[in-house]
Amino acid sequence: MSTHISVPPQLLLERVLTLEIVRVTERAAVSAARLRGHGNEKAADQAAVDAMRRELNKLPIEGTVVIGEGERDEAPMLFIGEKVGINAGPRVDIAVDPLEGTTLCAKNMPGSIATMAMADGGTLLHAPDVYMQKIAVGPGYAKGVVELDASPADNVRRLAKARGVDASAITVLVLDRPRHSDIINGVRSTGAAVRLITDGDVAGVIHCADPDNTGVDMYIGTGGAPEGVLAAVALRCIGGQMQCRLILDTEETRERAAKMGVTDPRMIYGIEDMAKGDCLFAATGVTDGSLLSGVKFRKDVIQTETVVMRSVTGTVRYIKAEHRQLEKFHLD
Ligand code: FBP
Repeated sequence: MSTHISVPPQLLLERVLTLEIVRVTERAAVSAARLRGHGNEKAADQAAVDAMRRELNKLPIEGTVVIGEGERDEAPMLFIGEKVGINAGPRVDIAVDPLEGTTLCAKNMPGSIATMAMADGGTLLHAPDVYMQKIAVGPGYAKGVVELDASPADNVRRLAKARGVDASAITVLVLDRPRHSDIINGVRSTGAAVRLITDGDVAGVIHCADPDNTGVDMYIGTGGAPEGVLAAVALRCIGGQMQCRLILDTEETRERAAKMGVTDPRMIYGIEDMAKGDCLFAATGVTDGSLLSGVKFRKDVIQTETVVMRSVTGTVRYIKAEHRQLEKFHLD
């Protein structure tokens, strides 16, 4: 005899789907990990996209992808506007980056992850795949302790004062790009340290939330807007502050953004502007990194590590999984 248990939609998003989204990022990570070090970014990304789409389409949701990929670098898409899920259940916004750090994966370097977020329908910022200026710090500071439009040196000094330490005790994470030379010089001019990363600013921003363990106090720089929204969801769950601005410096990008509801191209977005409802965030390591271990292929087991967070409770779970039904993964 089967018993029908009806789960209220809100409970579904808050609790049941928390584990469901772990399956989604696990599968995407395993698929991408098979192509680690093969030097083929597109193939690894495609594998992650296909696996993520397959898993998303099993979920009891009416989902719409509002943060997808593909516009900027012509990556294979889970495109903005794509409907996912079984078309029954809560109406939710989905943000995806099936393979964050495609180059890291292709070169088998640390820090690539498969990541997604889910939120109440209509509550995530709908952003085109353009660049975004970002600044982020962890929890425990007065609102506005750092500001997007203050100089990097000022922001270091303000954060150092708030922490009660000398500027030389502050470390700022920055994507290693020529466009960031002024930021790097500004930070260093205060005596603070710069930690450079070659890719992966979703994890970069998340590092700010736990400075005692990561050694990272602040993130500054310009990266992808989709990555910005995903990072905002993570900080919404674990605490912290973030300010961002879309870079809409051409008529074409302004038009694309306007179609998605962006009325003020110069607007500075805080975390709640990017993720205003209840939300969930998950990421699974593809290659080993300081946030998560990468996928391990053992003889009879595939091991994964995932972090999953809920905004309602602020609970953060690290899930180390051992997958034994390997035939399921051979579909990927
Ligand atoms: P991909 O996985 O799409 O390659 O993104 C990696 C990344 O480093 C992001 O973390 C970051 O936001 C963006 O690229 C920066 O863009 P760019 O490489 O063009 O400077």
